[in-house]
Amino acid sequence: MTQAPVNVTVTGAAGQIGYALLFRIASGQLLGPDTPVKLRLLEIPQAVKAAEGTAMELEDGAFPLLAGTDIFDDPKQAFAGANVALLVGARPRTKGMERADLLEANGGIFKPQGEAINAGAADDIKVLVVGNPANTNALIAQSNAPDVPAERFTAMTRLDHNRALAQLAKKLGVSVADIKKLTIWGNHSASQYPDIFHAEVAGKNAAEAVNDEKWLAEEFIPTVAKRGAAIIEARGASSAASAASAAIDHVHTWVNGTAEGDWTSMAIPSDGSYGVPEGLISSFPVTTKNGKYEIVQGLEISEFSRTRIDASVAELGEERDAVRKLGLI
Ligand code: NAD
Ligand code: LMR
Repeated sequence: MTQAPVNVTVTGAAGQIGYALLFRIASGQLLGPDTPVKLRLLEIPQAVKAAEGTAMELEDGAFPLLAGTDIFDDPKQAFAGANVALLVGARPRTKGMERADLLEANGGIFKPQGEAINAGAADDIKVLVVGNPANTNALIAQSNAPDVPAERFTAMTRLDHNRALAQLAKKLGVSVADIKKLTIWGNHSASQYPDIFHAEVAGKNAAEAVNDEKWLAEEFIPTVAKRGAAIIEARGASSAASAASAAIDHVHTWVNGTAEGDWTSMAIPSDGSYGVPEGLISSFPVTTKNGKYEIVQGLEISEFSRTRIDASVAELGEERDAVRKLGLI
């Protein structure tokens, strides 16, 4: 091993996603087969013992790329020197909790984590927020890290992207690998808009290949947008392995680049493109190269798409107003 290990901080390390995620990071799937990693796990004090158990299993995996695992219950220590941060731990919505209560509870987590990233993360820090409500939690963290370039804070819509690829591939009887240029717009919530109008299937336009607007509006979009709830209903727990897999995909693509002729979906701070108010962390079609992403420009947005993008972006605006009122940003 010639390269110095990359410090990867993972919050919520003892949770379900953490358990599915950490072994894949240790095996090299996050950053590639030549990059050694050092894991820095953050948990709340009550879950540190469970995280220690996971660290024992990581040791037992004898991963050649894993240069060590450290466990913390203090964000300042956990984010010190972090090059990549996966913010998975969040406060789930419990019975009787209103959306504003959820935002406030998560503000208590993502504000100090943003401050800790600001104080001690490495200069090249890249942040992915997975914990829900992911887009607005990312906004809280980003707003509390004024010395870190805003574009380093992203939220995960790659799971929605992957779900959309799978549903479209099933409908058309093709492989997911045949589909390019699919887009998730907006919030990681039921208001998201999976867009196939610019997607290509084996070189042909996907919407034309489907040629069924009723299926698109009444089956495809709701199936993708409500898939998280369907998984909870079926498993009795929210998606974990697929979420971990999407987090791996998100960071791997950010670091290693999108393939020629394709793009991916990432929730990133808007620069005002496509009428999304600047600063909102909203999902866009992006290409990535050399560790940087760019919004795909110049796509024609039909009336069908515009209404749906606007609805999801409006929800993000409401979430931003709510956390602003709470003094979190
Ligand atoms: P989980 O409840 O199994 O685990 C969460 C872990 O976070 C727990 O171990 C908890 O102790 C820890 N935690 C809580 N507060 C913390 C803090 N302040 N610092 C560090 N750790 C803390 O949940 P999970 O199934 O792993 O899911 C985690 C989050 O990911 C949830 O918010 C879930 O809704 C979200 N999620 C997002 C997506 C997405 O596509 N963006 C998909 C699936 C799940
Ligand atoms: C998912 O999309 O699977 C999750 O965000 C669902 C949830 O509410 O945890």
